[in-house]
Amino acid sequence: MARVVIVDDDENFSALLSTMVRRAGHDAVAAATIREGMRALEGPCEVVFLDIHLPDGSGLDILQDIRNTPSSPEIIIITGFDDSGAAELALKNGVWDYIKKPSSIKQMQLALLRALQYRREKGYQRVPAALKMDGIIGKSPLVGACLNLVARAAQGEANVLITGETGTGKELFALSIHDNSPRCNKSFVVVDCTSLPENLVESTLFGHKKGSFTGADRARDGLIRQADGGTLFLDEIGELPLSMQKSFLRVLQMRSFRPIGSDTEITSDFRLISATNRNLDKMVEEGQFREDLLFRIRTLQIGLPPLREHPEDIRELLVHYVARLCEQYGVGNKGFSPEFLAALEAHDWPGNVREFISTLERAISEAFYEPTLYPKHLPADIRIKVKRSELDMGAGSELHDEMAESIPALKTYRDEAIAVAEREYLERVIKTSRGRIREICRLSGLSRPRLYALLKKYNLTRQTVLS
Ligand SMILES: Nc1ncnc2c1ncn2[C@@H]1O[C@H](COP(=O)(O)OP(=O)(O)OP(=O)(O)O)[C@@H](O)[C@H]1O
Ligand SMILES: [Mg+2]
Repeated sequence: MARVVIVDDDENFSALLSTMVRRAGHDAVAAATIREGMRALEGPCEVVFLDIHLPDGSGLDILQDIRNTPSSPEIIIITGFDDSGAAELALKNGVWDYIKKPSSIKQMQLALLRALQYRREKGYQRVPAALKMDGIIGKSPLVGACLNLVARAAQGEANVLITGETGTGKELFALSIHDNSPRCNKSFVVVDCTSLPENLVESTLFGHKKGSFTGADRARDGLIRQADGGTLFLDEIGELPLSMQKSFLRVLQMRSFRPIGSDTEITSDFRLISATNRNLDKMVEEGQFREDLLFRIRTLQIGLPPLREHPEDIRELLVHYVARLCEQYGVGNKGFSPEFLAALEAHDWPGNVREFISTLERAISEAFYEPTLYPKHLPADIRIKVKRSELDMGAGSELHDEMAESIPALKTYRDEAIAVAEREYLERVIKTSRGRIREICRLSGLSRPRLYALLKKYNLTRQTVLS
């Protein structure tokens, strides 16, 4: 049985939907405002039916907030006739479906059924309820299993080793363990073992007394001491020189050490998380890594999967990072074509999520003012690779059809571009004139009725733009 949240201030419609959901064997929770809806979404939820016009704001403004809730449910927009332009844009931004009011029960049933089926097939995992997500995206079984380990690690004090290819999120997951642990209010100290200067490794880690070597003109705490009460993150621990491995093992056993030039030991109560993209077992066999140290640092291991092994998370990563990057670039949120998503899902991402983000960054700067991302905005090497693998699979002619389908009719394309530009323009002019109607009309040359009509069309109010 799934839990479905309905956010709509139209009591009759909401009651009708609730009945439909319950008849389908699920639990329905109705909310009449955004505030009530967000409260209902603190609990588990698979699907949200979301109205656009709500007494305390626009449903479209909370899409990201809904995605950030622990269950990150599928969103089905329910909308009055006038909103279909906005709803279509929302669809391009990853909402599951939109349904125009009035609509048949059957249509709503079907949308619900499909959304639930999609989540079941993807094997969506429920994130452990109490986990703060810290920007970690992914509900595939593979990422879900890692998040369960994060929750377990956060509750205890075990030394954690995070492994995974480059760009799989080792640092992000380490930080999440810290943020979810009782040590979250103390420091998270990162030691990048690849960039420890050879002659200063010990003083960087252990600190030194004033005058203990040339250049030590004042006493300094080392990184281990700085992590007292918090978490020490040893990144790329495979690069730690063998000589240091021995000293560090001692620190781990004793939780105390001697700063350079000092004759007294000091203590540090830190929690250790290490990460590596190397095979430490093999390094042990080859005599490059101490077996006793590996044994100590690996009380709990979290192996992060490469992105190509959980392509079902790409859709959510795409929605999240497109919104974030567009905001960063100040270019109004973009949608994406199904072919764009399919190309990303087909690529093998040797650089994992990091490569994924930089690819999106390139695609967005390539598209810049165009409202929708198409495969043509992707770097040529990715398009060629995807195309080649599809051709190898004998899908040549379908590919052509698919690419042809990705070209929208000129009118649709133009209307979309105008809608994005008009909306951005209105927001700018409202901000510049601090919401004064007379000034907005003067600057824009719009008549009052035309201005009000446009504000209604884009579901904008001066208050929401200025807040
Ligand atoms: N599951 C995820 N959800 C959202 N963002 C992610 C996820 N995994 C990784 N990222 C993002 O990808 C980028 C790379 O992550 P991170 O630096 O943690 O990887 P790493 O494994 O430490 O890489 P490296 O081995 O190269 O140091 C960061 O911007 C991070 O926020
Ligand atoms: Mg890293």
